[in-house]
Amino acid sequence: MKQPESHILVIFGASGDLTKRKLIPSLFELYVQKLLPEDFAVLGVARTDISDDEFRSRMKEFLPLSPATDPAISNFQKRLFYQSLSTSDAQDYPILKERLDALSSNLNIPANYIFYLSTPPSLYEIIPQHLAGIGLNDATNGFKRLIVEKPFGTDLNTAQQLNKNLLNYFAEDQLYRIDHYLGKETVQNLLVTRFSNGIFEPIWNHNFIHHIEITSAESLGVENRGGYYDHSGAMRDMVQNHLFQVLGLIAMEPPVVIEANAIRNELLKVFQSVRPIPETEVQNVVIRGQYTQSHIGKDLVKGYRDEPGVNPQSRTETFVALKLFIDNWRWGGVPFYIRTGKKLPARVTEAVIHFKNTPHHLFGNQTDVLPVNNQLVLRIQPDEGILLKIGMKVPGAGFRVQTVNLDFHYDELSDAYLPSAYGRLLLDCMQGDATLYSRGDAVEEAWKIVQPILNAWKNNPDIPIYGYPAGTWGPEIADRLVEDGSWRYPCKNLARDGEYCEL
Ligand code: BG6
Repeated sequence: MKQPESHILVIFGASGDLTKRKLIPSLFELYVQKLLPEDFAVLGVARTDISDDEFRSRMKEFLPLSPATDPAISNFQKRLFYQSLSTSDAQDYPILKERLDALSSNLNIPANYIFYLSTPPSLYEIIPQHLAGIGLNDATNGFKRLIVEKPFGTDLNTAQQLNKNLLNYFAEDQLYRIDHYLGKETVQNLLVTRFSNGIFEPIWNHNFIHHIEITSAESLGVENRGGYYDHSGAMRDMVQNHLFQVLGLIAMEPPVVIEANAIRNELLKVFQSVRPIPETEVQNVVIRGQYTQSHIGKDLVKGYRDEPGVNPQSRTETFVALKLFIDNWRWGGVPFYIRTGKKLPARVTEAVIHFKNTPHHLFGNQTDVLPVNNQLVLRIQPDEGILLKIGMKVPGAGFRVQTVNLDFHYDELSDAYLPSAYGRLLLDCMQGDATLYSRGDAVEEAWKIVQPILNAWKNNPDIPIYGYPAGTWGPEIADRLVEDGSWRYPCKNLARDGEYCEL
């Protein structure tokens, strides 16, 4: 893999959770894999007044400590620097510029800078403006890129506002809107599975596919993020971004080339083709739920409303299930079901393609035999892999049919280095490759799909929010959405699916 050009990565929000838990460990991983350039530095920026050394030792706690990693950690730490700054204050930015100039000249790094916004979203408008105010958006003497973390707005209006504002100071090709789902190997593999095999594409359409479901179940609750989550909810937190990306990759037309705009154009078209849900219909095609206190095994598990930072009368959804149609030539009439929730029985993300039954049930005359429901399970996490359910003859007299699994597990390829999602995306940005980052127009289009749902919930408080006991598969009524079939209730294990279930 080609190494990126020398540069400085500036992380705004350097004392935050994301920096410690994801960014610094991913950068260390890239460092160990020798994927970072020879001349490279990280400049952490936050309000707290601490020294470079203090920052280094605080970050060390989040690295994989062992005698084997010790030398690498101390060399990596030398590349970490810190600058205290009041990021909302224009007067402070010349200090940042001076620090960057000094680092560039001491470390022999050209003025190539990546700015990572890992701050509260209220600063997404201010930081780019102040960076531009001192010329740090000017790519004449070196690249200047801006990585923006989600949320990209909280509704259509704020997303449009945010895009407009970012584009006042940075050009679209300098903007990298990060959606960590696109950094997952198995999400990228959706493209490879579809477009590197001749056998899937001919049947990947309404003629052969009955319906598609996308599930992202989490066993954890909101943990210590109640304050954020209570203003967000599952629709904004998971569906509008991560799960729509998965939907896009499953439903898109083949791009002409594997290149940022070719892929992003196709994703955009999918979002544009999603049939709008009228506000009056929301109640029938979208089910929302919230976890309530329950016993899981011997433990008494808190309900959502008792979580720290959550309003005790909260009507924020921790579960959502919805049904969508994509009105285009390929998908006319095929329902897409999307479901996500916290405090469900297992942590599993997968897409399931349900194929139509055979036109004539040749082996269906036996009383105990149901028609085989061919399913292709594309497992994103955990036990990453692919599973195809097909009918096979049960040995013996007659023609009894049994459904069996053909499966492949990603860890069978594991001698290759698999970067973490953040590692992969950071490296792509360093190389100037925006393929796996969201483009502004697609983000807005995705908001257009969810906006009527958010409006309906806001304008009609009578639309129920169903309680579900923590540790269950969400409100039972969500089952009714899937008219002609049912949700799959996945287990953690994909291996030996249907034989045993690991939760
Ligand atoms: C984040 C959400 O973007 O994605 C979290 O804010 C969620 O609420 C997480 O838990 C899920 O990511 P993953 O990679 O664990 O599936």
